[in-house]
Order: sequence, then C-alpha cells, then structure tokens
Amino acid sequence: MIRTLVQLSDPHIKLPGTQAYGRVDTARFLREAVQAVGRLKQAPQAVVLTGDLTDFGRPDEYQHLRELLQPIECPIYLLPGNHDEREALRGAFPGHAWLRNGTPFVQYAVDLGGLRLVTVDTVVPGASHGEVCAVRLEQLAQLLAQDTVTPTLIAMHHPPFRTMIGHMDEIGLRDPDGALAAVVARHPQVRRVICGHLHRLIQAPWANTIAMTAPSTAHQVCLDLAEDAPSAFTMEPPGFLVHAWSEEGDVVSHAVPIGRFEGPFPFHADDGQLID
Ligand SMILES: [Fe+2]
Ligand SMILES: [Fe+2]
Repeated sequence: MIRTLVQLSDPHIKLPGTQAYGRVDTARFLREAVQAVGRLKQAPQAVVLTGDLTDFGRPDEYQHLRELLQPIECPIYLLPGNHDEREALRGAFPGHAWLRNGTPFVQYAVDLGGLRLVTVDTVVPGASHGEVCAVRLEQLAQLLAQDTVTPTLIAMHHPPFRTMIGHMDEIGLRDPDGALAAVVARHPQVRRVICGHLHRLIQAPWANTIAMTAPSTAHQVCLDLAEDAPSAFTMEPPGFLVHAWSEEGDVVSHAVPIGRFEGPFPFHADDGQLID
C-alpha cells in the first residue's frame, strides 16, 4: 500500500480581509490549496505545514489559519518559520500537545505508519535567517536515535543548502561548522529533508540525503540567480508536495500545482490504441 504525506508551505496567513504585501490574498490561496488536497486521488495520512504559517505571528492570524485548515480531515503537523511566533502558534492549537515537546523549541517526532516525521525548529526570534543551536542539535540527535530503522523525513523551515537565489541565501540557514549536516549524515534512515522558506520547488543532495523546498501555497519567489537579483515575488502557479512511501521504505516526492485544470483525458482508446 502506498501512503502519502502532503506538505503545504508558507501560507503567510493574515487577518481576514487583509492582503500580504498589499496584493496577495493568502487566505484565498490556502483555501484553494486545502480544496486541492481534498481532490487528491489518495487521501493523505497527514499534512505537514513547513513554516511561515502566518505573516506576523499574531494570535488572531493563527486563529484564522486554524479556521482555514478546518476542512482537512487527517492529522496536521505544524512547525514555525521566521514569520511565526512559537507561543502564539501553541496557543492557537492547544490540542497539538507535541508543539510543546521541545520547549522552548518546536521539535517533535511522529509516527505516520511506516514513516517517521521529525521536525527541526530553525527560528531565531526577530531574525529572518535560521539557526540550529546546540540544544536543538542535541534534541534532533535524540529524536533520530530513538528509531534508526523506520524511513524518516526531517521537516524544517529554512533549507540547509545554498539555493543560489542570493537574497534568500542571505536569510538562509546558518550552519557554519556543518554540525547539523554531521548529525543528519549519521542517520541513513533520513530519506528527505523537507523545507519551506524559498517559496518554490528546489532540491539538492545534502548530508547523504536529499533536501528540498516546497512551493508556497500563495506567492512564489522569483527565479533569478543573478548575484544582485532583487528580493521579489511572482504570482506563478502555487503548489504543494506529496511525499509518498511504500511498505518497502521507498520515498518519492511529487509536486502538485494548485488550480482546476482540464482532464483527465485517456491516452488510449477503448481498443487499446494510442489516440491519434
Ligand atoms: Fe515564507
Ligand atoms: Fe521564511
């Protein structure tokens, strides 16, 4: 049996009726993302949101997020990004006891049935870049050591690799001594490191595994690799990721654009011939 974990990222929810950067109705985009998850052929085991859940980390923004996520029927796992505030997040989701497991950090592990999800909190309060301090590294090492067999996905907001989008790398994850990479590289059960922050799909090999970032459910960061590229976003089609795993422990990651599209259309006619 194939099971799936949906990864939504960077919804940047604001108060009802307000728009991000004066132009992005992030709530409408998240509503459409949730509807698209509901239309998937395979209902997911769980949904994980990889940070920047709200735009300013305000308690009423988290209440709005909670309302928007209401139609999702499977368990939802949350972690903070640089736009979030840990206590406001915990306050809006009191039933999510695991948000307190690594207090003051949001670090926990959950078993999704044949796949483990382990979160890393990369947030530096008041800053846009990410860091993983010695306490968080030790917590991560302990979480990974609890089960070294089950295929594992690590979820965190800031990606650990250089994306070559300069203005985003400037506010990327700082791991100057490679301490995070060293912990992860010791654990071959880690099949993916799934991140947000970049507002587009990017992947790179890292620490003996694959690290990747998800599209935002709303606005995307412009693909411009020039050294002096301006910090800017685009309204390219938003999307999300579907991480699928088999009983044999294989993990594959699919990207899904959000929207309503024509189809499906058959490749073959009733007689089995390719349609001309
Ligand atoms: Fe973001
Ligand atoms: Fe971010």
